Amino acid sequence: MKRMLLAAVAAIALSGTAGAETIKVGVVGPFSGPFAIQGKNFKAGIDAWMALNGAKVGDDDVEIVYRDLPAANPAQAKALAQDLVVKESVQYLAGFYFTPDAMAVTPLLEQANVPMVIMNAATSAIVTKSPLVVRTSFTLWQTSVPMAKVATARGIKKVITVVSDYGPGVDAETAFSTTFKADGGEIVESVRMPLSTTDFSPIMQRVKDSGAEAVFAFLPSGPTTLGFLKSYNENGLKGAGIQFLAPGDLTQESDLPALGDTALGVTTTFHYSVAHDSPENKKFVEAARAAIGNPAELSFPSVGAYDGMRVIYKMIEATGGRQDAAKAVDAVKGMAWESPRGPVSIDPESRHLTQNIYLREVAKAADGTYYNKEIQTFANMADPGLAAAK
Ligand code: PHB
Repeated sequence: MKRMLLAAVAAIALSGTAGAETIKVGVVGPFSGPFAIQGKNFKAGIDAWMALNGAKVGDDDVEIVYRDLPAANPAQAKALAQDLVVKESVQYLAGFYFTPDAMAVTPLLEQANVPMVIMNAATSAIVTKSPLVVRTSFTLWQTSVPMAKVATARGIKKVITVVSDYGPGVDAETAFSTTFKADGGEIVESVRMPLSTTDFSPIMQRVKDSGAEAVFAFLPSGPTTLGFLKSYNENGLKGAGIQFLAPGDLTQESDLPALGDTALGVTTTFHYSVAHDSPENKKFVEAARAAIGNPAELSFPSVGAYDGMRVIYKMIEATGGRQDAAKAVDAVKGMAWESPRGPVSIDPESRHLTQNIYLREVAKAADGTYYNKEIQTFANMADPGLAAAK
């Protein structure tokens, strides 16, 4: 009997089909503190995916292990990722809201044999730091180049740029300025503020004094973007006729109730609006709203997470649940699908998402809620930031 049992175990081990396993996915994001709504959106996107597609791939169970990283903190990001890989034996790392956190983890991936699926961090260069990085969010180059085109088309000639002084802010500034100047525009001043800035009145004064017709701004979505747009209104810039130009991080849906009517008509460029009109998005929004609880809190990190889960499921399927990071990443190169945001594909070279970018305007629905109404499409954009870096 014992011999038979041993033979059976050996046969299973040799065939490599040891039955159902649990594949763990470690997700790092801000689940507490000022950016907690952004992390809540990661979880809503993941929950929506699993509600619609199940918690199994083949015979294997998928388990999500969450780690809280409340603010940009590279050292802590690295420690959490190490802990997930070593103690939790995760086969995949995912999430990452802030660029510095994603950057700090990329050097660990090859040795750990773990792919990283970035669900938000949006500085172009992240995907160049390891061949095991795949990104399902967006980049500031993707969103800011179209905004420069919009500014030129509107006949704006002089712009002041104001950005948070770190990776995505510098990318936003460079993308906007390069494109706007190439089309004949003038950048009268470029302001970079520390990530910790919360009092924007002195900056609004500089904008007023600069002689610009418009301000182009980027800050990471969260309490500071809300504060920045409020300050733009309260300091009378709108009244002074200084137009507001920004990527959609500045008008994320969860900020709109607090901004109220003052945000009406503000135009931004972005990859995702909760109001995107498609059957795929309706299905997603319904599931993600059920997951998040308060429907007004649903915002863009949820779609990066939802699409990130699609990619991870494909990786698990392609590797038969075995840990082979290179094979997993190879399997999703060129993958194309209909996302809630529109049609997308993974560029096989950069491992970043090619997608539509939309010009949107904040509008008020019949029921009194605010939304980002899509009014123009910049179709099928790869990341211009990676092309510029070559
Ligand atoms: C980033 O740190 O890469 C980041 C964070 C929030 C955003 C955009 C980019 O809204």
